[in-house]
Amino acid sequence: MFRTLALSAVAALGFASAAMAAGEGGHVENVRFSFDGPFGSYDQNQLQRGLKVYTEVCAACHGLRYVPFRTLADEGGPQLPEDQVRAYAANFEVFDPEIDDFRPARPSDNFPVNDAVGAPDLSLMAKARAGFHGPYGLGINQFFKGIGGPEYITSLLVGYTGEEKEEAGTILYENTAFPGGYISMAPPLFDGMVEFDDGHENDLHHLAEDVSAFLMWTAEPKMMARKQAGFAGVLFLTLLSVLLYLTNKRLWAPVKGKKID
Ligand code: HEC
Repeated sequence: MFRTLALSAVAALGFASAAMAAGEGGHVENVRFSFDGPFGSYDQNQLQRGLKVYTEVCAACHGLRYVPFRTLADEGGPQLPEDQVRAYAANFEVFDPEIDDFRPARPSDNFPVNDAVGAPDLSLMAKARAGFHGPYGLGINQFFKGIGGPEYITSLLVGYTGEEKEEAGTILYENTAFPGGYISMAPPLFDGMVEFDDGHENDLHHLAEDVSAFLMWTAEPKMMARKQAGFAGVLFLTLLSVLLYLTNKRLWAPVKGKKID
């Protein structure tokens, strides 16, 4: 009796994990980003490289509608000098209702919306996708590895198998990270596609990680301020606990018949 129960429990678990694995979608590799963990922070150079990859490749199809150009100069971000931000913004055109026409963007504008090919906006994508779901779909891994948004984007960009199929007139590309296995975005990145002035490595993997880090920053530009505030909070609460413990001991000392000095 007990054995059959135990066996069916094991079988049910097996089924559940198989079902969840199918629903979970693709395979996501863990990437060690500089901003992982409670003390991690963005790597300014990596964000600048990621911005370059985004600009030269992804911006053709995707927008960043929630990101103001001026934040590119913010501390903790890519931290471009103000004049570079102005020059960078001027490369984009935005619609100005006041003059009822398009004009070059200014630092106070947001990156333009881009819905030309139906590609989703990338501003918040790194927080909208979870890379790690396990074990058994409980999501406990996220405590250790983070939710895995940037890891998902990296895995997506390097996850093309080269296979494709046509469905209802659309070409779909096989991808090991995309839930369902086929995505309508053609492989956007290749080895050496973007070159950096400092000669930094630019194989597919590095480019994918850099643009993923940049997209994490667009989704959470104040991450470093948040971590610092969290750390100060924990420190303060620890100190408060110690003081309260000592106060408590002192208040109860006469009742417990101890000597107070
Ligand atoms: C030629 C146009 C094009 C380019 C260039 C392009 N994308 Fe896409 N992207 C798309 C389309 C279309 C989709 C929607 C795919 C779908 O849902 O099947 C998409 C979807 C995505 C998604 C969402 C996947 C999901 O889970 O829903 C991410 C992330 C993404 N692209 C990242 C990038 C990055 C990063 C770059 C630059 C390295 C890039 N894309 C370049 C067209 C493009």
